[in-house]
Amino acid sequence: TKKQDVLVRGQILHYLTDPGPGDDPAAWEYFDDGALWIVDGHVQSVGPWAVVTANLAPQVREAASFHDHRGKLVLPGLVDTHIHYPQAGVIGSFGRQLLDWLNDYTFPAEARFADYSEAERSAAFVVDRLLAHGTTTASVFATVHAHSVDAFFSAAEAKGLRMLCGKVLMDRHCPDNLRDSAASGRADSQALIERWHGRGRLGYSLTPRFAPTSTREQLQATGELFQARPDLHLQTHLAENPAEIAWVQALFPERSSYLDVYAHYGLLGPRSIYGHCIHLSPAERADMAAAGAAAAFCPTSNLFLGSGFFDYAASTAAGMRVGLATDVGGGTSFSLIRTLGQAYAISQTHATPLSPMRGWYLATLGGARALYLEAHIGNFQPGHEADFVVLDWAATPELAWRMDRTQTLAERLFALMILGDERCVVATHVMGERV
Ligand code: GUN
Ligand code: ZN
Repeated sequence: TKKQDVLVRGQILHYLTDPGPGDDPAAWEYFDDGALWIVDGHVQSVGPWAVVTANLAPQVREAASFHDHRGKLVLPGLVDTHIHYPQAGVIGSFGRQLLDWLNDYTFPAEARFADYSEAERSAAFVVDRLLAHGTTTASVFATVHAHSVDAFFSAAEAKGLRMLCGKVLMDRHCPDNLRDSAASGRADSQALIERWHGRGRLGYSLTPRFAPTSTREQLQATGELFQARPDLHLQTHLAENPAEIAWVQALFPERSSYLDVYAHYGLLGPRSIYGHCIHLSPAERADMAAAGAAAAFCPTSNLFLGSGFFDYAASTAAGMRVGLATDVGGGTSFSLIRTLGQAYAISQTHATPLSPMRGWYLATLGGARALYLEAHIGNFQPGHEADFVVLDWAATPELAWRMDRTQTLAERLFALMILGDERCVVATHVMGERV
């Protein structure tokens, strides 16, 4: 059945491309009194209110669902390019860096997903919280249990979300109750692909946890599947922490780098998304860019776990696709607005600070591009799926005070990125409809 037409009035910002380090103004469109006209869940037109509405017959307009958000910022739905839904319950676990954090907190939490009801309750909670934070698409790690993917995709499907998810593949260096095998991991992944991939807006992402927890045999089997199915995604972790990197070197002495492990087994290519990518050489960045692989920049996680400072400027200058990510539960918030603030802080440790014009690109179209979903989401080009978020510039007294003292759009967008958070989210819409 056709959805009701939707008309939105507000301050509309969306991106046509990456503004780049020079903030190219041709990269975005901003309509201070804008209209977004949505037919059957897809963008029909966007532009100045007067122009868009002049083209609407009165009876068509009257039949539409109208959302008056004048004075509020309307953006494409935020895109979280790397999150672990089973880790909502370990956010804020004290005192460990990556490898100890996994052993002490994360693996025990994931082991509880052997119980389907834990997976179901967590999936419902996380989908609800993503939407409350303005995130409409994410690339999601489940656990090693196949049914953890069923739980997540069921919850996402019920809300009509465009989501990527996959069962974690992990056949060594982990607790017995979280270990699969090369054969079972492959069979489970294949069954989940059959069940879920391409159903509605859902897509399957092959999910080897990271090189240390998969045997060569498992990496090989996963690479074969990925190479045979260019419609699938693949997600894993890369170069997050010095101890992790040293471990990979010890486990794969025959490979020239951490990235080379993935490249060798056929896990590097378009639609592969690597979390973190902090400690990479220029050659590894160039190889990722040439392969069309993407990095998920996870600032709150990188600070919380003491992992290091991702070099956004160098990564994008090398031609890599980069998306923004919370990495909950290494990350400390579901909010991509807070995450942008921390991305800025990290960018200050390198040569080029992350500008607001580029920051909001990163949280929207940049994420869609990192996930190779820009044909469907990420901006308001006609035909795109109408997922969007409405933000209140003045959701807190501090924001209101600061906004009163700004002159330009860039200043306001920057203040929002630094002072803003989920309190700014007024409404989240999926395929036009408010959720
Ligand atoms: N590397 C391997 N597994 C994980 C994980 O769950 N979180 C993070 N941040 N890094 C990882
Ligand atoms: Zn992660």
